Amino acid sequence: MSNPSAKYILALDLGTTGNRAFLFNHDGKIVGQAYKELTQYYPQPGWLEHDPQQIWQDTCWVMQTAVQQAGIAATEIAAIGLTVQRETCLLWDKTTGQPLHPAIVWQDRRTAPLCHQLQEQGYAPEIYDRTGLVIDAYFSATKLKWLLDHTAGKVDLGNVLAGTIDTWVLWNLTGGRVHATDDSNASRTMLFNLRSRQWDARLLDIFGIPAHLLPEVRPSLGLFGVTDAQLLGVEIPITAILGDQQAALFGQGCDRAGLIKCTYGTGCFLVAHTGAEIRRSPGQLVSTVAWTRADQTGAPEVGYALEGSMFTTGACIQWLRDGLKLIQTAAETEAMAAQVSDNGGVYFVPALSGLGAPHWDMSARGAFLGITGGAQREHLVRSVLEAIAYQVKEVVQAVDACSSTKVQRLKVDGGACDNNFLMQFQADVLGIPVERPVVRDVTVQGVAFAAGLASGFWQDYAALVNNRQSDRVFEPKAATAALENFTTWQKALSRAKSWAE
Ligand code: G3P
Repeated sequence: MSNPSAKYILALDLGTTGNRAFLFNHDGKIVGQAYKELTQYYPQPGWLEHDPQQIWQDTCWVMQTAVQQAGIAATEIAAIGLTVQRETCLLWDKTTGQPLHPAIVWQDRRTAPLCHQLQEQGYAPEIYDRTGLVIDAYFSATKLKWLLDHTAGKVDLGNVLAGTIDTWVLWNLTGGRVHATDDSNASRTMLFNLRSRQWDARLLDIFGIPAHLLPEVRPSLGLFGVTDAQLLGVEIPITAILGDQQAALFGQGCDRAGLIKCTYGTGCFLVAHTGAEIRRSPGQLVSTVAWTRADQTGAPEVGYALEGSMFTTGACIQWLRDGLKLIQTAAETEAMAAQVSDNGGVYFVPALSGLGAPHWDMSARGAFLGITGGAQREHLVRSVLEAIAYQVKEVVQAVDACSSTKVQRLKVDGGACDNNFLMQFQADVLGIPVERPVVRDVTVQGVAFAAGLASGFWQDYAALVNNRQSDRVFEPKAATAALENFTTWQKALSRAKSWAE
């Protein structure tokens, strides 16, 4: 698969709030990049949609801009890796290429009533057994059902294709030739059997999803197809697709049981590799595919993971800026939090999209509690940062509870880990070191490594991972007050549960 004259890997990271393209050279260094923010549509409280055409057009723009910025020729690109926000899904007409409806984003809660109904009907144990997932509006299955119910009759279903964002962009990248996804993205749909790694006929029946709508599921590291030559003037192989959290796990070098990372992005996603074994943490963490790779004989190597998905992290800071207008930039929260000696008795519940792990409460809503006349802006900001760290502590406790060895160190990445106050507070409340890398975009780095290894551009995963540099290790300090406050924060959280029921 390797092209000897090629010098670069193009990595596409299509996230919740924006789309980016990065070019990596053979030394694993970033030589070009481009970013475009993605418009968020909130048609009703609790709903969130994306425009699939904007995602595709912005993908083209960031690819072309990164290539121009690096001053390279597209013929010098060995392979493309694609990583995406997971669970977000859509339907489109394969004859026109037009989406039937905006994409429903992973944070969207519109299908909570259907999820409650499924829970009441007693489906939770069976769905958990088959998929490793908790019944929640977060995953794609109920979103796809909603899309089918609301577009039925408008088109001939024989012309319709379904997919998560990787599938939509892959289909467009290949000029409509390839309708596929990878195991890591498929494992987030709630339609995929974790053991057989195939679409599960029983689940398709429960959710009323016709099998012919769904993409072919392929190994995460392997050839998915080549780009339409009109896009960059040359056909380029796409050799890796990963969900963004699994890409960060790969980039952090967490390829064995016991290795763990936490990405502080729109949400916070703590993922622990569990080797070739499907580990379970019923009701708290979900079991999922880390990634798969076809070996020489064609038999896939499979890795699984346990994940604690916390829905709002960067999204809370963005809300302080854009919703409340309490701050002007995310970066200023670090200094503001440090301006006060404590949280002034103020606690924040980060349930802006309900609560994910370990509570799984679709009806919980965000709240500030404990406000008195003395509360200042700085206390509110600090309470938001503290809440992010407390959420992560709960998930680390859930990971510890299902393992004989406790988590010893937390590898972190993502935009919000720039915040030194947050990282130090995180280390203090966990009581373990928190290690931050120089390159925070580990998601994009991970999918670049995966595409480069799968295409033969690189051979040595360990060397790539070892080349990454640590920026800072936050050592835990004694944190008696913060730990006492953790109990009070849990009390605040319990008040915000079931709020929207
Ligand atoms: O499961 C949702 C997750 O994949 C979103 O990641 O980076 O877009 O916040 P991000």
